[in-house]
Amino acid sequence: MTDSTVSPSGMSVLLGFDPLDPGFRADPYPHYARLRAEQPVFRSPLGFWLFTRHRECALVLRDPRFGYPDPDAVSGDDLIAAGFAGQRNFFIFMNPPDHTRLRGIVRAWLSPRVIHGLRPYVREAAERLLDQVLAREEFDLIGSFAHALPFGVVCELLDIPEDDRPQVMKWAQDYLGGVGPVIEVTPERHRQRDRALAAFTRYFRSLSERRRAPATDLLTHLTRAMVDGRMSEDELLGTCILLFVAGHGTTTNLIGNSVLALLRHPDQLARFLAEPDLEGTAIEELLRYDAPTHMSFRVALEDVPLDDGHVVRAGEQVLAVRGAANRDPEVHADPDRLDLARTDNRHLTFGGGIHVCLGAALGRMQARVALRAVFERAPNLALARQDLRYKKSLLVRGLEELHVRTGVKGPKTGTRTRPVT
Ligand code: HEM
Repeated sequence: MTDSTVSPSGMSVLLGFDPLDPGFRADPYPHYARLRAEQPVFRSPLGFWLFTRHRECALVLRDPRFGYPDPDAVSGDDLIAAGFAGQRNFFIFMNPPDHTRLRGIVRAWLSPRVIHGLRPYVREAAERLLDQVLAREEFDLIGSFAHALPFGVVCELLDIPEDDRPQVMKWAQDYLGGVGPVIEVTPERHRQRDRALAAFTRYFRSLSERRRAPATDLLTHLTRAMVDGRMSEDELLGTCILLFVAGHGTTTNLIGNSVLALLRHPDQLARFLAEPDLEGTAIEELLRYDAPTHMSFRVALEDVPLDDGHVVRAGEQVLAVRGAANRDPEVHADPDRLDLARTDNRHLTFGGGIHVCLGAALGRMQARVALRAVFERAPNLALARQDLRYKKSLLVRGLEELHVRTGVKGPKTGTRTRPVT
């Protein structure tokens, strides 16, 4: 046990399944299925709740009786809340009216028009990255493509200077490595997360000070909102960091998990390539099948009686396990099957209710462009190694590396044959 503060058997008692079981990271779904069948509304001996059925997870996300605790009321020893609410100025952790105000300022910047405008950049960036790696027989798709693409996009969105990007990437990694409940993330990783936040804050403050001149990037837009008195400086800085950390790791994992799912289901990959009209349902199915984040955290703001007779008392904490809800057979027929033509898809991968992902359209667009680019240019792509390493996190579902063989040898490997649309 290297990265947990609780023993394996203890984890099972606390969560209803054992995330330290070697098989769990490789395939958590049978573990979720067992809990969903046996105790879908599970109360941990520590007092928090863990929901694995679609109906309760959707309720937690959509019902205003669930929200976030007051950060001043959360103690550093709090096993769940302290680990999640890493930044009080992230509007993702706020309740209305502050959440509504800040979300409203950012929303225009992630509108369909803006996403459409970013598409050529994403396509070109995907092509450039593939130009570099498809010349090799084997490469790590996560490091050289799935991470680099969305990282570049979020840097573009905020107009982060090229020279600063490696340092910014390091802070983002340190931050993300420390997000999670105290039961699985060590105090040292929480401290590392907090140091990264402080460095990020200083960085965005200096960048924002240089953005008062007319410019059209998102940071300039936020800086103007601050000057107009619509948000405080702390909120501006928190929002920059939130967009940064929410925007790229998730998309990296969506691309990585989707490529893996398609490589493991050659019949579905063949349909993906042969039937472009399927693209809409295909992306939704890939989002459902192996979601990039598996849990959301909330607290009950008042007593909430559930249909099955349990009552979540005001102040009690809840983990909604969307990884389990997405495979709930009550909602999705034959839920363990990847079916790119699935139509009645009610996945919770982008959350729901007032906190529903603000970057969903951007994430979907990047995944579409990325998957088309990868498989059209390397239709014979294959897994190079069967031993897959997943990120050590309860919340995040994503691969550390994904080594693939391009399958085409000789001088023509990876040359562009047709444009990616
Ligand atoms: C494609 C992969 C993505 C996935 C799977 C994803 C997932 C999610 C989920 C589940 C939530 C809600 C969390 C909760 O309610 O507990 C969320 C919120 C959010 N996401 Fe995403 N996200 C993705 C991409 C992005 C991108 C590209 C951006 C921005 C550049 C972004 C920005 C945000 C923001 C700002 C929120 C907070 C919204 C609010 O609290 O009102 N996300 N995301």
